[in-house]
Formats: sequence, structure tokens, C-alpha cells
Amino acid sequence: MKNIIITGGAGFIGSHVVRLFVNKYPDYHIINVDKLTYAGNLANLKDIEDKPNYTFVKADICDFETIMGIFKKYNVDGVIHLAAESHVDRSIKDPFTFAQTNVMGTLSMLQAAKLTWEQLPEKWEGKRFYHISTDEVYGALELTNPEGIEPPFTTKASSGKHHLAYGSKFFTEDLKYMPHSPYSASKASSDHFVRAFHDTYGMPTIVTNCSNNYGPYQFPEKLIPLFINNIRHRKPLPVYGKGENVRDWLYVEDHARAIDLIFHKGKVAETYNIGGFNEWKNIDIIKVVINTVDRLLGRKEGEDMDLITFVTDRAGHDMRYAIDSSKLQRELGWEPSLQFEEGIEKTVKWYLENQAWMDNITSGEYEKYYESMYANR
Ligand code: NAD
Ligand code: DAU
Repeated sequence: MKNIIITGGAGFIGSHVVRLFVNKYPDYHIINVDKLTYAGNLANLKDIEDKPNYTFVKADICDFETIMGIFKKYNVDGVIHLAAESHVDRSIKDPFTFAQTNVMGTLSMLQAAKLTWEQLPEKWEGKRFYHISTDEVYGALELTNPEGIEPPFTTKASSGKHHLAYGSKFFTEDLKYMPHSPYSASKASSDHFVRAFHDTYGMPTIVTNCSNNYGPYQFPEKLIPLFINNIRHRKPLPVYGKGENVRDWLYVEDHARAIDLIFHKGKVAETYNIGGFNEWKNIDIIKVVINTVDRLLGRKEGEDMDLITFVTDRAGHDMRYAIDSSKLQRELGWEPSLQFEEGIEKTVKWYLENQAWMDNITSGEYEKYYESMYANR
């Protein structure tokens, strides 16, 4: 029996990771530690909440004494650490909360693991602290093409795979960190602490940096679920700047599969980038989402294009993210399983079929938050 803490398991990606581990590994005990902030939602885990190998503990990762108590009580072998403040726009308004949760919260998890594990006769043997980070720590890439062809253009990754790209450079694991937003600065800092615990104490750590995830259960402050819900209700779609920024999108279950693989087979002290080689300009992805929602709602495809509303750009808006995940493909054989067209169809369908989930989140406090964010643009 392995006792594994998954932090942030009631959030978007965390809930997919918890579900995967609980269903795939009946002999593991999965302990979901989550504070249930605005982003945490136990409804994301309804289908597995009664499984015998699953325990939910409501706790704040910054509360060191409580986290120590959880380590003692459950005889913890491994940690998959996802709990974080995750939304860039919120970090611009309230950087303190991001430093507190993402930096101090991670440090609290690390210190609890260290104090618990170093006292055991077997010490670090069989233990693992796996920290989930983001591609945003690498900074921003430019939209370029050395041959002067208008991007996107076809290029070849070091894995040998061809894909469309908006620039000639990619985020690789050896790049220096250059975070720009308070969110990415806090994630970069937490990554450094994780590596410091390996280098200083010998803790068996792993860090992965992933690109933009999309799929079911994402909080509707993020681009895709927000826009699906707004299109459904025929509300304006606030496109930041000119909609020219590029993101690299990965279906969330593919990220969860990568986390499973890396947790079990990844090399200690290594960093792995995870991404879909799937770059999209915001405005193009928005058009795909509008067409898909319209079609699935039985509206005329594209009839909601006039909801697109260009608004003031995000402060310090990173132009392009593009992950090179060749190392993960080469060393552990991971590849995204879903084509984007399939993933976005599944995603839009899920939100439209789970309107009660969406309505539950978007009632009450959410409305006030969203109106104030929108009004400020
Ligand atoms: P999310 O905002 O949907 O969920 C975060 C979860 O953490 C919530 O359940 C919340 O209640 C919990 N949490 C927040 N503060 C906490 C605290 N102090 N103590 C305990 N729990 C707390 O986030 P997400 O999008 O699922 O991202 C999960 C992780 O993956 C984050 O670390 C994020 O930086 C990283 N990541 C996200 C993406 C993405 O596209 N969403 C991409 C790469 C990396
Ligand atoms: O790259 C990984 C990161 O992806 C994760 O670490 C973050 O947790 C996650 O939130 C995401 O960050 P982004 O800022 O890229 O995601 P977001 O959905 O907020 O925005 C995607 C793009 O769409 C970005 O260029 C900003 C733009 N945008 C976003 C919103 C919410 C708009 O144009 N309008 C909007 O209303």
C-alpha cells in the first residue's frame, strides 16, 4: 500500500489526477489535501468520493502544523503537489496571496516531507516529492520565423515530429527562468525551493513544467470555459489586446497521464517539460470555440462571432508559450493522445452537458468577481 498525498486535488488538473490514481491504483491510498478556495470544488470528484482508497482532507498547505499532522497520520510515501493559486489575472491584482500559497505553501509541504522522511530508518528510499509547475516560468517567446514566412509554419521538433509553430524558439528544460507575472514569479520561486531540497538534503524530487491545459472541470475564469459559458448566454467575449498571443494547448487527461508516468518512471532531480506541440493564436482558438458551441447548441455556426469584444490587454501579457516536450517523449515515451479537434469537441460538449456544474460555480460570489474584472477592462 502506498500512501500518496495529492495537493489541490479538488481543482481542475488535480481532480483529473486524483481520479486517475484512485481508479488505476486500487492498492494506493490517495489523500487529497485541499483548502477548497474559490477554485476548489468537491463536485469535481463526485464519481470517486466513496472509493475505499480515497480520503479527502480539508487543509491549507500553508498551515505547517496541520500538514505535519497529515504526514504522521497517513505514513506518507509520496507527494504530488498541485495546490496553488493559478490565475494570472488574479495575481496581477493580489500578488501577496500568490507568494503566500505558491511559495510558502510549497515550502511548508517540502519541510513536512523532509522532517518526516529523514527520521525513517529507510530515509528517502521509496519516497518522492513531485512538484507540478508551469511553462510560464520560462518567460515569453516571440512570434518569429527566420525564413520570413508568415507564421504559423511547419517545423520539426528534436523528437523528429512535425508540427505548426509561431516561432523558431521553444521552451526546453535547460532554459533560464524569466518569469514576468506575479503568478509565474511565485511558481518559479517554488520550483527553486523544490530543487534546493534535493540539492541540500537529498530529497527525491521531480519538477514538471506544463503548457496550457483545457478540458472538463476548469474554473470559468480561464479562457476556454469562460468563453463557452459566455457564448451560451450570449455575453461579450473579452479578448485581451488583439488576440494575437499564442498558447500551447494540452488536453487535461493527457497531462494527468504524463504525471502518472513521471511519478512512477521519472528520474529523481530531473525536470520534464509537458506540452502538446499544439500552438494556437487566441483569436483563432476563440473562433473554433464559437463555431463548436454554436453547432452543438443548434445555432448557425459562427452566428456568435459578434460577441468578440477587444478589451484592454493584460498587463505584461506574455506573447507566446511553446513547450518542447521531446525529452519526455524520448526518455519515457509519452505523447499526447488526443488531437486538438477531438479534445475541444469533447470539452465543449462536456460544459454544455454539465450546465448545473457551471451554474453552481457562476452563481453568487463569482458574478461579482467577474463583473469587476470585466469592468476594469
Ligand atoms: P486550480 O486553480 O483549478 O486549482 C487549484 C487547487 O488548489 C484548488 O482546488 C484550490 O482549492 C487548491 N488550493 C489553493 N490554495 C490552497 C492552499 N493554500 N492549500 C490547499 N489547497 C489550496 O489550478 P489548476 O489549473 O488545476 O492548476 C493546478 C496546478 O498545475 C497549479 O500548481 C498550476 O500552477 C499548475 N499548472 C496549471 C496549468 C493550467 O493550464 N491550468 C498548466 C501548467 C501548470
Ligand atoms: O501556460 C500554463 C498556464 O496556463 C498555467 O500555468 C496557468 O495556471 C493557466 O491559467 C494558464 O495561463 P494563461 O494566462 O495562459 O491562461 P488563461 O486561460 O488565463 O488565458 C489564455 C490566453 O487567453 C492568454 O493569452 C490571455 C487570454 N485571455 C484570457 C482570458 C481569461 C483573453 O484574451 N481573455 C480572457 O478573458
